[in-house]
Amino acid sequence: MWRASILTLFPELFPGPLAASLAGRALAAGIWTCEAIDIRASATDRHRSADDTPAGGGPGMVMRADVLARAIDAATPAGDPRARILLTPRGRPLTQARVRALAESTGVLVVCGRFEGVDERVIEARALEEVSIGDYVLSGGEVAAYALIDACVRLLPGVMGKEASQAEESFEAGLLEYPQYTRPQVFEGRAIPEVLISGDHKRVEAWRRAEAERITRERRPDLWARRKGQTTERE
Ligand code: ADE
Repeated sequence: MWRASILTLFPELFPGPLAASLAGRALAAGIWTCEAIDIRASATDRHRSADDTPAGGGPGMVMRADVLARAIDAATPAGDPRARILLTPRGRPLTQARVRALAESTGVLVVCGRFEGVDERVIEARALEEVSIGDYVLSGGEVAAYALIDACVRLLPGVMGKEASQAEESFEAGLLEYPQYTRPQVFEGRAIPEVLISGDHKRVEAWRRAEAERITRERRPDLWARRKGQTTERE
């Protein structure tokens, strides 16, 4: 059983969308568990405050090291082998390779940052791995946690069918998906490309490959430059 423990100021947001669709069916089937932990429950003062003003001044509030450390310690017994991830826009970008490694492990502890940041000392003292899901700023780590956990859960054994795993392989090889079509044959005057209804599997395969390459080159020159199986010659 793969275990996700989420430390958050908004525990009511979980499982949220993770209770629907593929991840939700896997949750109901007991393939994984989703435990949301209220960071505020580890606060000790009368107001149960988890944040305070930044040392050195400046705007906003910072999550307290002592409160968050207590919450992490309560959630992770000594020897818990799970990765401890802090979701933050300044983290290392999440990749499919990291997702795969997490899915092959026993689970994750996910800390959802809020306020202007988290006291640096708890990041060091609890060896938190800082991860970002993209170069934009969310109002907190919770929505990023949905993305991270969903990406892991779909890879757990018994969750995804064979067909979806094959699309995965193409992405991991560094190519974006080729265009898809289904009925009707003509939509608002646009016909399905002739090759796809030709019944010639070789031609279909060649067309799809060329389209995947064109789309990758146009949209993601970074992926195109690093793709697997590339030749070293210039194109
Ligand atoms: N929290 C706020 N923005 C984020 C991002 N882009 N990735 C991960 N966590 C975040």
